[in-house]
Amino acid sequence: MKLAMPMTLLGLTLLGLNSMSLAQDVAKNDFDFAIPNRALQRPETESTPIIFVSRGTNAKEWETLKDFANPVTEQVIDPVTKKMTTRKVVKIKMPLGLNTIPSVPPENPLTWERFELGKKLYFDTSLSSDNTVSCATCHDPSKGYSDASKTSTGIASKVGGMNAPTVLNSVYNRFQFWDGRAGSLEEQAQGPVQNPSEMFDGKGNAWHEAVKRIRSNPEYKGLFEKEFGTPATRDAIAKAIATYERLVLSGNSIQDRAELAARIRAIDEDSTNFTPKPEDYEKVLKEAFAKKDNYALDALQITDEKQIPEVAKSIDRGRILFLNKARCNSCHVGETYTDHTFHNLGVGVGKDGKLPADQLGRYGSQATGHKDHAMIGGFKTPPLRGLLASKPYMHDGSEKTLAEVIEFYDRGGNANEFLDPKMRDIEAEEAYMLAQKNGTKYEGPMPALFTSANTPIIPRKLNLTPAEKKDLEMFLRALEGEAPPAVLRKN
Ligand code: HEC
Ligand code: HEC
Repeated sequence: MKLAMPMTLLGLTLLGLNSMSLAQDVAKNDFDFAIPNRALQRPETESTPIIFVSRGTNAKEWETLKDFANPVTEQVIDPVTKKMTTRKVVKIKMPLGLNTIPSVPPENPLTWERFELGKKLYFDTSLSSDNTVSCATCHDPSKGYSDASKTSTGIASKVGGMNAPTVLNSVYNRFQFWDGRAGSLEEQAQGPVQNPSEMFDGKGNAWHEAVKRIRSNPEYKGLFEKEFGTPATRDAIAKAIATYERLVLSGNSIQDRAELAARIRAIDEDSTNFTPKPEDYEKVLKEAFAKKDNYALDALQITDEKQIPEVAKSIDRGRILFLNKARCNSCHVGETYTDHTFHNLGVGVGKDGKLPADQLGRYGSQATGHKDHAMIGGFKTPPLRGLLASKPYMHDGSEKTLAEVIEFYDRGGNANEFLDPKMRDIEAEEAYMLAQKNGTKYEGPMPALFTSANTPIIPRKLNLTPAEKKDLEMFLRALEGEAPPAVLRKN
């Protein structure tokens, strides 16, 4: 007992001192993050959570939702008074074809207020040093959330080396950036503000200056306090922008509609074969035509209803090619058509078959001690749901059209020592080596080059006919998602 008292007192004193000095440290340096003052924050029951509803997980409720964002009220128990109260909730009707509910980190809960704040920041040029560039400059909603140029132009007309990927459906990416150097939208959003070819003029600490600019705008003060209990910080800005991006979804492509039509038809026919047929494409294209759904029709270059039966057959043939002869689905799989990993296709390789030092891709961004040789020159498999507005293609924008992309794959990509095994004709390589060893005749496709260990690299040619190339392009066009809803655009 005698000892216990002073110990407790000592403990309390230490605790007090510690938290005081922590608070002082944070106050001195609170541009990155701050300790919240909960008294400033809006009560929990007054903030509006966002709930995603997809057709795949709750078809009944999904059918009842009218718009993309649907404000509704629900009954909840007030955490403070423990009484039943009503609160507002926004239900998001997820676009057809996107069934996986976007993941949300627990430390950044989705609320409508945070979404609105993030949207404001996304379009705000004051995140750049000279107030000229916003996220939307390079990821413009009217350009498919990209910038319609080969590589992006940032602050002071500086041209970067990379093609801007779309922000559409980026919530589904396991890794962000072409080399996957960010693991979350929150982490990604902190990059551009300090990137000298995007938003930063190189003077001072990029984020501290950006936070000062946001704080100097009185419109933001209450918004940050109510949402985070802090003034604007790097942490809060990244969280708000990521919240906005989580709702930037695009689906309901002709392919999604045909898959649903096939499912309904199969159920009618008592069948378990849910694969779309030309008649399913024809049905949904006719519906789109009747509704004047120009977005989907333009993607497929349909101007006359008479074109529909032939286009439907072409998309169907293209789908079969994508899954079989052209082997596209060995990397472009799943709801957003990506395996979420990295492959060397030889994009950026010189004519000499050599990989330049600035084209190491995933290998370059992996932590030292974790370098994986299979990732040399590997770039992220991009999703394929928003291709039309996001041209040109590939990480360096080197392919101008979808037809060029298809030619690229038809010749087996660009040969180089580190070409992905899925892009190579491994059987031919083995047959070649065996013939060399045994001194026998080899008649298969010839090696494009040899590795430093003298093994042959034989790119896998697809041997697509001109008609097949057209069909494959039609299928890619049928993946085009709907234009994002107005609520995501600038007010
Ligand atoms: C100057 C043009 C530019 C600006 C401004 C810009 N970006 Fe980007 N963004 C790019 C480019 C280029 C890439 C690809 C860079 C790379 O992979 O190395 C990219 C990548 C991304 C990605 C990753 C997508 C993917 O599929 O990997 C997201 C998400 C993103 N940007 C969001 C933002 C946000 C949010 C902002 C504002 C804070 C922003 N961008 C500002 C050009 C820009
Ligand atoms: C070995 C894996 C792999 C295969 C097989 C593959 N892709 Fe890709 N695809 C990728 C990767 C990785 C990239 C990005 C490469 C880069 O920029 O360095 C890409 C890029 C693309 C792009 C450009 C998208 C954009 O936003 O820039 C399109 C379109 C595309 N692929 C379509 C196809 C089609 C069609 C096929 C089948 C003929 C196919 N892919 C086969 C992995 C693959």
